[in-house]
Amino acid sequence: MTRILEQARKISVPTKKEEEKMKKLADSLVKKVRDEASKYSQVVTVELGGSYAKGTWLKGQMDLDIFVKLKTDTDEKTFENIGRKIGFDSMKRYVPFVRYSEHPYVEARAEGTRVNVVPCYDVERGQWKSAADRSSFHTRFILETFDENKKNEVRLLKKFLRGGGIYGAEIAIEGFGGYVAEVLIYHYGTFMGVLEAASNFVQGQTVGNPAKKFETALVLIDPVDSNRNLGTAISGQNVAKFILAARSFLKKPSIAFFSGKKRNPNAKNLKNTIIIKFNYKRRSPDIIWGQIKRSTTALAGQLELGGFDVLRKSAVTDEESEAAMVFLLGSPVIEKFMVKNGPEVYRKSDSEHFIAKNSKNILTWVDDNGKVLSMQEREFHDAKKFLESLLRKDLANSGVPSGIMPDIKRGFRILYGDQPVSKSIKKALAVLTSTDGLVFSTNK
Ligand code: CTP
Ligand code: MG
Repeated sequence: MTRILEQARKISVPTKKEEEKMKKLADSLVKKVRDEASKYSQVVTVELGGSYAKGTWLKGQMDLDIFVKLKTDTDEKTFENIGRKIGFDSMKRYVPFVRYSEHPYVEARAEGTRVNVVPCYDVERGQWKSAADRSSFHTRFILETFDENKKNEVRLLKKFLRGGGIYGAEIAIEGFGGYVAEVLIYHYGTFMGVLEAASNFVQGQTVGNPAKKFETALVLIDPVDSNRNLGTAISGQNVAKFILAARSFLKKPSIAFFSGKKRNPNAKNLKNTIIIKFNYKRRSPDIIWGQIKRSTTALAGQLELGGFDVLRKSAVTDEESEAAMVFLLGSPVIEKFMVKNGPEVYRKSDSEHFIAKNSKNILTWVDDNGKVLSMQEREFHDAKKFLESLLRKDLANSGVPSGIMPDIKRGFRILYGDQPVSKSIKKALAVLTSTDGLVFSTNK
């Protein structure tokens, strides 16, 4: 174990040289933002935040969060406009674009590093006006409570979460974000302490002292705000994966938990996988992810109503132009016929109603319990045809969010998992159709 943790530290903690390079970049970018910000009287200050400021950033995984703090009396519209303008003007060399969390901010890529320029209000603790306002309190909290050792424990935990594919608070992942990793280390002291605790998490595990009741799989209270549950952004599936990965690692530690394991698709399952892909008009990644996730859930429900067994589902996008919804089915072709269960004859009016409606079917009969049954041909017994018809003729009632209806109307393709697809879909297929070897290792 000690040796593996030592190895893991080597790939998680940045070198002195990387730190120096990062400092140079951070200083020059902050200066650019400050220069633009100085043009607006509403700006109070510009400060570095996120994992760079906290000293918890991962080796090779640079991401700079720069916060522009505005006076609290700035109205929402001006707040958004100034935030966007400063972000765009300061990052104009680095192809900036708008992203959304609860309010818009600007993202850019400078020398391989992702830069976020995020407006927030310069508030007193607890007087939150925008979602980003807590962030500088997070930074202060971590800097006040963590020494260098603790910061490196955070890095181990982040690397472990990344290796398991469950790192990131964004909607695309619905996983454990950087601050979540920090709060877990705050409570349990060390990386190993967190894993020991996680391996014994109970349903609805609560960490911290909530000011009210929360219903998520993991309830993790923000130390700077007891009304905020950081677990809200983490899917139940990812909480479960974390628990299983912790148990597996404790029983049989390996560096693969940190470096990640390549997944290969299962050929048999690919044949039972159906893909709906389409091109969309470029928009913020957070928006398209939300839309295709909701779409996937809605269409899985439609498939179930149509008699198909949806085992697993997944949404995927390259965040540029292509999006897809992927379904692993029990079988893409099902029985041509189905049996409709009717009421018992003793329920007179119900059974008469059922018989009137169904007596012209292929076969209608009554069983030993007095129940009326009727067999009829399905409209669709092929999932591909079912989806084609649904998306062409009944899109408006399919539950697909209206925001992507125009994109789907412009054209879509339905494929099986064993047909050629793009790189991002391929990756999603590998994850969907194969067992996660890290999480489900045999531990013997
Ligand atoms: N934040 C938050 N809640 C989220 C996402 C972000 O409170 N769901 C705040 C946190 O204060 C976090 C900061 O925004 O520190 C920056 O977010 P992010 O870049 O996702 O996290 P980092 O801590 O910077 O970690 P990473 O190393 O992944 O960048
Ligand atoms: Mg960050």
